[in-house]
Amino acid sequence: MHADSSPTTSPAPASFDGRPGLLDTRGRALRDLRISVTDRCNFRCTYCMPAEVFGRDFAFLPHAEVLTYEEIERLAAIAVELGVQKLRITGGEPLVRKALPDLIEMLAALRTPGGDPVDLTLTTNASALRPLAAPLADAGLNRITVSLDSLDDATFRRMNGVDFPVTRVLDGIDAAREAGLAPIKVNMVVKRGENEDSIVPMARWARDEGLVLRYIEYMDVGTTNGWRLDDVVSAADIVAAIDVEMPLEPVDPNYRGEVAGRWRYRDGSGEIGVIASVTQPFCGDCTRARLSADGKLYTCLFSAHGTDLRGPLRAGASDTDLRSILEGVWSTRTDRYSELRTSATSHLPRIEMFAVGG
Ligand code: GTP
Ligand code: 5AD
Ligand code: SF4
Ligand code: SF4
Repeated sequence: MHADSSPTTSPAPASFDGRPGLLDTRGRALRDLRISVTDRCNFRCTYCMPAEVFGRDFAFLPHAEVLTYEEIERLAAIAVELGVQKLRITGGEPLVRKALPDLIEMLAALRTPGGDPVDLTLTTNASALRPLAAPLADAGLNRITVSLDSLDDATFRRMNGVDFPVTRVLDGIDAAREAGLAPIKVNMVVKRGENEDSIVPMARWARDEGLVLRYIEYMDVGTTNGWRLDDVVSAADIVAAIDVEMPLEPVDPNYRGEVAGRWRYRDGSGEIGVIASVTQPFCGDCTRARLSADGKLYTCLFSAHGTDLRGPLRAGASDTDLRSILEGVWSTRTDRYSELRTSATSHLPRIEMFAVGG
């Protein structure tokens, strides 16, 4: 694993990417806010919400504890004032929340201090996308990311934990395309013994369909998926497997802090991404904060605790009060979990993936 190095003692640089904005203790700007609109999901993916743990009697958040769309918009607007440029809607499964296009419309109206619209996107399992793709696009959603771990129906049904057929996800992707959501990205979590056989077929399919496929190393998010380092297929092995059949070359990142390492086919037919959180951590450039459905702000996917924003919101805090809470949290941020990960750290308490949406 990666060697630990002592915390930096040199002063943080004045700017992260040449733009103004709040910096944390390691000089990282706040640029992305991932907003979870629900902790519920109709899937039970083995690596996220294993069905044995999240059964019928599992207590998800009661309605009253979930932020309203107005509350979400208010917090998002403050984050955008502080430098956030990308808003990503997540869950659980965001499409199970009622009237989601209404929230999209509210967020699409936000403007950065420079007057630009924000990059507004959403990560979904696409099971309910067919009827929602056009209303979401009409409401101002720019693009979409679909989670899909295999094209092989038996493998997919096993991994999603609820026997959901792959054809319906593919139909959801078609609906997104018809609605003009572009680019469409596809996330594939690779877990040893479950879907390595799908690595190359997925690459071929995504290339033929013009989709941007990103492979994700299986991570020790949450505490219920029984993660073991042996179950991780490394980004290097994933790239090597594809390269044998369809030669690849590396590409520079689109922007500083991009999560996925980019590779393109040497014949110019497209590109893939590899999210190597385990073997090549990217904490040094991590610009993400996460807002859970119950209004807690997390500064790392692996945090044990979040800062409650719902309490102050509902107690009548002003925008200035809320803004100073956000500034306080980000300016004291020290997170770099993936750089410090060992077999021992994977047992530490932390937020579950479905509560902060990845
Ligand atoms: P775009 O490049 O704008 O499309 O966004 P993105 O790369 O953030 O996309 P997405 O939200 O689909 O992220 C892909 C996956 O990478 C997530 O679902 C997580 O599994 C993982 N991921 C994203 N951000 C982080 C992070 O900060 N830390 C870790 N360890 N993993 C992350
Ligand atoms: N490791 C890696 N990726 C995960 N995701 C969920 N759980 C894990 C995990 N343990 C992915 C989902 C989805 C995104 C939100 O995070 O497949 O694409
Ligand atoms: Fe649901 Fe996404 Fe978690 Fe699968 S990975 S259980 S689709 S939230
Ligand atoms: Fe960011 Fe935490 Fe992921 Fe590191 S482990 S990239 S700090 S979210």
